[in-house]
Amino acid sequence: MKILVVGGGGREHAVVKKLKENKEVEEIFVLPGNGGIAADATCVPINAKDIEKIVSFATEKAIDYAVVTPDDPLALGAVDELEKVGVPCFGPRKNAAIIESSKVFAKNLMKKYGIPTARYETFSDADEAVSYIAKGNFPVVIKADGLALGKGVIIAKDFVAAENAVRSIMRDKIFGESGNRVVVEEFLEGPEVSVLAFTDGKTIKPMVSSMDHKRAKDGDEGLNTGGMGTVAPNPYYTDDIAERCYREIFVPTVNAMNAEGRTFKGCLYFGLMLTKDGPKVIEYNCRFGDPETQVVLPLLKSDLLTVMRSTTDGTLDKTPVEFEKKYACCVVMASFGYPEKYEKGYEITVDDAVKDDVYFAGAKRENGKLYTDGGRVLGVVSVADTLGKAIEKSYGKTEKIKFKNAYFRKDIGQKALNAEKR
Ligand code: AMP
Ligand code: GLY
Repeated sequence: MKILVVGGGGREHAVVKKLKENKEVEEIFVLPGNGGIAADATCVPINAKDIEKIVSFATEKAIDYAVVTPDDPLALGAVDELEKVGVPCFGPRKNAAIIESSKVFAKNLMKKYGIPTARYETFSDADEAVSYIAKGNFPVVIKADGLALGKGVIIAKDFVAAENAVRSIMRDKIFGESGNRVVVEEFLEGPEVSVLAFTDGKTIKPMVSSMDHKRAKDGDEGLNTGGMGTVAPNPYYTDDIAERCYREIFVPTVNAMNAEGRTFKGCLYFGLMLTKDGPKVIEYNCRFGDPETQVVLPLLKSDLLTVMRSTTDGTLDKTPVEFEKKYACCVVMASFGYPEKYEKGYEITVDDAVKDDVYFAGAKRENGKLYTDGGRVLGVVSVADTLGKAIEKSYGKTEKIKFKNAYFRKDIGQKALNAEKR
């Protein structure tokens, strides 16, 4: 089979490595991929947002199955367009991808169908948003409606900060057109859990849970990033909580999307907060998380391609989705300065002993050598029998990877380790 993967980050590298385990897979093309993924697949320089070019490439190469993982092409309707030319796809159609691409849609869906989430109001007028905020409590959370690379959320500790946030999102458009509307929501507290779930629109099979580390610095300080590391499973996500989330959140969400005529197929990502009043949805993503995928897929025992195809053809109920009872840790090595200004173009050297455990994100290849090419450069992944060992192994491997200005958090997994000891 010829497979097409759209995207070019650490998540796509994890997907590619797992797909390759299937003997039926003859060739994998990644659009655009990156210099690191090029060791495992054929990377073709077509932008993940250029739907027209993606579709003509798929037709030309007679692709048998396509996997679309980033938010932008899904929101742009990549799956719909590929299906039109007869290429079956993993991922939601445009009308279902809206669950991530519009926070206003997602919040209204949760309200309509009684799915637990933070209380909120939506506004398309900045003055109205500000007068509403003046009457409420602090901190308060302000979110731009649309996609903003995971950075469109501001937690304002007082009225002045909240007013500034509203004006900078809605008037100064710091997140672009994403800020035409805002969601103002109640600040929730509790441990956060990421749960990715396969669904064909009828059956839901949640994957092993995970914990992201979104802030740039140790101790969850610094700016929000795309994710500085992950561990799986998440110790806060007990069997009882998992059962409750399945019943109160996962099933109602998939049913709600059906009721709206927006059947969701693919991977639905639940960003959850375990509050004292029970689990609540912080956000939905219409795709695999990055870097959650880098710890979840290495624990998947079942064949990824088979599971993906069952979400497309509606046979997920008959398809086993099983995970190893082990632990995984991913430490993201970034360019110093990320998520703000950083330098790139430095040579990356990876010791042969660890090269299979590296998932590349911001890397390019020139004359057979790898160079840094982005904020998040790569993720180092380990699997072990205990969480402690998985963390230790990943940090050990970081010593075998060198590039100038390398920066990584030193405390990935510490919170989870402490939680295990409760
Ligand atoms: P999001 O892009 O919606 O996932 O938000 C990014 C991060 O902001 C989340 O991972 C949370 O840590 C935080 N956050 C978002 N919404 C809330 C909320 N209502 N209360 C507290 N923290 C929040
Ligand atoms: N790691 C969070 C996300 O993929 O949005």
